[in-house]
Amino acid sequence: MSPPPSQPTSRWPVRPLTDDDWDEFVALDSHAFGSTMPEEAITADRALHRGARSIGVHDGTTLAGIATAYSYDISVPGGSSPAAAITWVGVLPTHRRQGVLRALMTSQLRSVHEAGREPLAILWASEPQIYGRFGYGLATRGLSMTVPRDPRALLTTVVSDPSLRLRLVDAADWKITAGVYDAVASVRPGMPARDELWWGQAVQDIPGMREGRSELRCVVAEDDGGVRAYARYRTKQSFDDGFGSGVVSVREVMGVDPAALASLYRYLFDLDLMGSTELWHRPVDDPLMSWLQNTRRAKPILGDALYVRLVDLDRALRGRSYATAVDAVLEVSDEICPWNAGRWRLTGGPDGSTCERTEDPADIALAVVDLGAVYLGGTTLTELALAGRVEERQPGSVAAAATAFAHSPAPWCPAVF
Ligand SMILES: CC(C)(COP(=O)(O)OP(=O)(O)OC[C@H]1O[C@@H](n2cnc3c(N)ncnc32)[C@H](O)[C@@H]1OP(=O)(O)O)[C@@H](O)C(=O)NCCC(=O)NCCS
Repeated sequence: MSPPPSQPTSRWPVRPLTDDDWDEFVALDSHAFGSTMPEEAITADRALHRGARSIGVHDGTTLAGIATAYSYDISVPGGSSPAAAITWVGVLPTHRRQGVLRALMTSQLRSVHEAGREPLAILWASEPQIYGRFGYGLATRGLSMTVPRDPRALLTTVVSDPSLRLRLVDAADWKITAGVYDAVASVRPGMPARDELWWGQAVQDIPGMREGRSELRCVVAEDDGGVRAYARYRTKQSFDDGFGSGVVSVREVMGVDPAALASLYRYLFDLDLMGSTELWHRPVDDPLMSWLQNTRRAKPILGDALYVRLVDLDRALRGRSYATAVDAVLEVSDEICPWNAGRWRLTGGPDGSTCERTEDPADIALAVVDLGAVYLGGTTLTELALAGRVEERQPGSVAAAATAFAHSPAPWCPAVF
């Protein structure tokens, strides 16, 4: 086993950063991402950052690379799991492709492992090709589309409920929408739990980041029993040959039942003076795809979303339920977290599971990146086997395990962190 990069033998020693490093930390991020954040955004992020674990690599006295881990709970099949949410990853342009990220990633995963709290690490990638080598597998996808305000594209006659009323509320009032979010998270894996701090980020509305669009708005669909759906969105007005051709940009739309969700889609697709509605990263099984008259007119694009890394494989696999009974020996390779490598017997079903080391022959051989990909139940073992990434050693074992790992509804992560 090679020593962790925080050892003196590493070319890039990694050390923890504190709030005192904040200014240099933000400056590095700005160089790495090629943009300067507005002051208000920096202030808001600093509050989140105070509770996080940040690390850095120095070249002499110059901070050359950074990475942060927030503590999240995310919904997983059958419940929820602590997860280290990885973010603020950047390397100075002068130091790229010299192994700084590798030093940061290796050290960070080892720290999460040693702390023993989070069996998972999760992240959104600025570019999909970066993180597979560190064991992060693509676990959720999303559909982005632009729905034209055109009767040929709009909703078919879908479920409706005359008891529903629509009401505009203060967009910053997250408490009114928290119940809907939690209800959706209870059935969809991949959703981070939101406390007051994270809700603050979800409803953040920084004028310097509006890019000509309106302030953030919020509409709820409710009945006498309470709020059943909500949407946060902005609008950008424009006229084309005298016709309103503005754009509605939806930040988040969620509903606990079809009628409530459909009522908000109808609202978002039919605002006066608007010409189209942009939706970003909807669930791949969003009912909208059944409701649109003509899905082609919305030009949906499938994008990669949340990447999952099993930091402690046995705890992670025990931490979720399985759709059907499973009894399989997995032979796992993991160079970055060698404590995961080897053969594991996973036994379980809908009500719980065990995962123990074994010397028995393997049914399935795969890399930890692929186990991360299937963990939330979206990406299937079958598709990875078809891609030649998963090796079936015992005939029928991949199909059986794929059914057990799958989850419906599909996993979804509604927000970037
Ligand atoms: C992406 C970034 C963090 C990589 O840092 P780095 O220090 O150059 O990465 P390393 O030198 O440690 O590279 C490790 C490996 O990843 C590969 N790699 C790193 N970034 C890559 C990229 N953007 N595309 C393709 N491969 C990449 C390297 O080639 C290397 O491959 P190897 O292990 O086969 O040798 C850095 O380029 C950066 O800050 N980019 C802009 C900000 C950003 O995208 N951050 C990530 C936010 S999610």
